[in-house]
Amino acid sequence: MISDEQLNQFVKQLQVKQSRIMVVGLGYTGLPLAECIVNAGFEVIGYDTNAVKVEMLIRGESYLETISALKVKELFETGRFAVTTDITRVKPCDVYWVCVPTPLVNGAPTLESFYSAIASIKTIAKKTILVISSSTSFPGTTRSICISLLGKESNIPGSDFFLVFSPEREDPGNSQFTTKTLPRVFGALDANSSKVALVLFEQLFDEVHQASSIEAAEASKLLENVYRAVNIALANEWNEICTELNLDVWEVVKLAATKPFGFQSFYPGPGVGGHCIPVDPYYLLSKLKSLGSNPGLINLACDLNKKRPHLIVKKIEFFLRERSKLIDCCNLLLIGMGYKKNIGDLRESPAIDILGLLVMRGCNVKWYDPLVTDNLSGIGAQREFFLTPELLKSQDLCIILADHDLIDWDMVLNNSGFIFDTKNKYEKYCGLMGDKIIHP
Ligand SMILES: NC(=O)c1ccc[n+]([C@@H]2O[C@H](COP(=O)([O-])OP(=O)(O)OC[C@H]3O[C@@H](n4cnc5c(N)ncnc54)[C@H](O)[C@@H]3O)[C@@H](O)[C@H]2O)c1
Repeated sequence: MISDEQLNQFVKQLQVKQSRIMVVGLGYTGLPLAECIVNAGFEVIGYDTNAVKVEMLIRGESYLETISALKVKELFETGRFAVTTDITRVKPCDVYWVCVPTPLVNGAPTLESFYSAIASIKTIAKKTILVISSSTSFPGTTRSICISLLGKESNIPGSDFFLVFSPEREDPGNSQFTTKTLPRVFGALDANSSKVALVLFEQLFDEVHQASSIEAAEASKLLENVYRAVNIALANEWNEICTELNLDVWEVVKLAATKPFGFQSFYPGPGVGGHCIPVDPYYLLSKLKSLGSNPGLINLACDLNKKRPHLIVKKIEFFLRERSKLIDCCNLLLIGMGYKKNIGDLRESPAIDILGLLVMRGCNVKWYDPLVTDNLSGIGAQREFFLTPELLKSQDLCIILADHDLIDWDMVLNNSGFIFDTKNKYEKYCGLMGDKIIHP
């Protein structure tokens, strides 16, 4: 057991910012978090197993749209930021903050990175440490894995440690909030964990909310994303309903949104993407399955979201057939492949599914996205690096899947024959362009 003196010493160190904090996993969530902690005056060691990313940071470059190269350089210039791929060469830290991926492999949750991150921490952990997980998973994950790997059964001398789960709410591309200003939730293992976490969090974040347990905090994260998954499925279904009723779905949603309470707008689109919405509901479902339950609504929403790219392709096919064009003889250009506006992240992007389905149907598909770094070689579609009038004019259909701000949308409009606009980019031209702009 930790003594009162040790606890007070740990708290004091945090208060005077003498604690060394390791961020494990420097991706979309870990790097902005590291920035926030350095800005608060702490020393941060970023540990990531991806050597390419670590080398880029060391050269003063960034791999995220959300953190500039200048910001990376500024972090190093503070003298309180270092990065490594080799955890064994780092002096033990006081706090380990885990931001590693929790993806799906073949549709099922995999906690491999999380296990391996905790196992790495164990190799250097000293006696008293605070472990914080921000890796999304089903309730029970943080407690069971961290206690089994780092807890009393472990061979760390005097294995007492503080444990916290604090969900990440990073919304890449959202300039309204920073890591510091986004309200922060956390749940702690016990009173001591809660005490030390609060001392740290109150120095990092403007608003902190404590859950009654680690599991309540884990579940709150899943609810946030299940809520989005269900509402996106509803928005897409509402799109079909409006089409049948000959109504404009965007107009109807906007009218409903004038109600100042009880309604939040969700719009139809090409499907769900990114690391959270297409993934997190399956973490919940896998946990519930192990408990013998099977929630109908969430399953249905997941199913509808998964089928959305197929429906989009069917609609494209239908549109072309109506114009006496066979899809396998058509030139199609997909514009915007990232999973959302102004983001080049392709993880779970519905655009990839749509691209794959169109290639399978035998059409000549090209794609353009200036934010994407991956060339998607091997998928059977050509990447275009420049959007030119000639390219647009040579297409049977241009398909907008992500409406990035840096694309010249007037040029797209003026030079395309037909535009399949899944993002309502050309809302203001609605009804004014004949049948040039098609909505799904
Ligand atoms: N991206 C988001 O917008 C977002 C938002 C909320 C929550 N989350 C959650 O945050 C967690 C991290 O997501 P992310 O988007 O930052 O992932 P990411 O893939 O962008 O970054 C994770 C980083 O961890 C590194 N890594 C993997 N295994 C490691 C290990 N064992 N040790 C050290 N480094 C390791 C990877 O190389 C990668 O750089 C996930 O659970 C995700 O669901 C993400």
